[in-house]
Amino acid sequence: MTHSGLTNLVLIGFMGAGKSTVARICARRLGMTLCDTDHILETRFQASITQVFAQLGEKEFRRQETNLVQELSTGSRQVIATGGGVVMNPMNVAALRATGLVILLNADTDTIVERVRHQTHRPLLMGVTDLPTHIASLLAQRTPAYREAAHCTVEIRGLTAAESAANVINLFKTISGEGK
Ligand code: S3P
Repeated sequence: MTHSGLTNLVLIGFMGAGKSTVARICARRLGMTLCDTDHILETRFQASITQVFAQLGEKEFRRQETNLVQELSTGSRQVIATGGGVVMNPMNVAALRATGLVILLNADTDTIVERVRHQTHRPLLMGVTDLPTHIASLLAQRTPAYREAAHCTVEIRGLTAAESAANVINLFKTISGEGK
């Protein structure tokens, strides 16, 4: 399977899968530009994602996220870390797949719960009392979209961020022919 011409590397996956950290490592190792959609939106709004959700609402956040995805998809040699909900809009998926190799960082419920349990910056998890049940349900709802959007998958259970990044880089080099 080759996907030559896909010069971007796109990481998708659920909250807590490690997209931002793995993207940072990949960008450094591949000498590519790091683009983290949540971070870019936070800079643009001069506000945290939680504040954006609270002040403008999720609908406006999604609109801005889609505009940014379209914008980034016209660039090249970028490692793009996406927000966990990006795949729910088919327009985002089409744009990302047009110029990028899309890799799913796939995580199971237990791993995600363990990682997000003590974090407070995610609006969709704020005020949730039964985290495992909530995450299992949202993950089940989103998994078909993640699977369909991805060219390939890295299973992150039991891996460090550096190990996940090494697997992502191998796939990117092999499949896209880029970064050699
Ligand atoms: C979201 C995931 C978050 C962020 C926003 C919505 C989601 O990004 O974009 O809170 O819908 O899953 P991370 O996946 O980086 O946590």
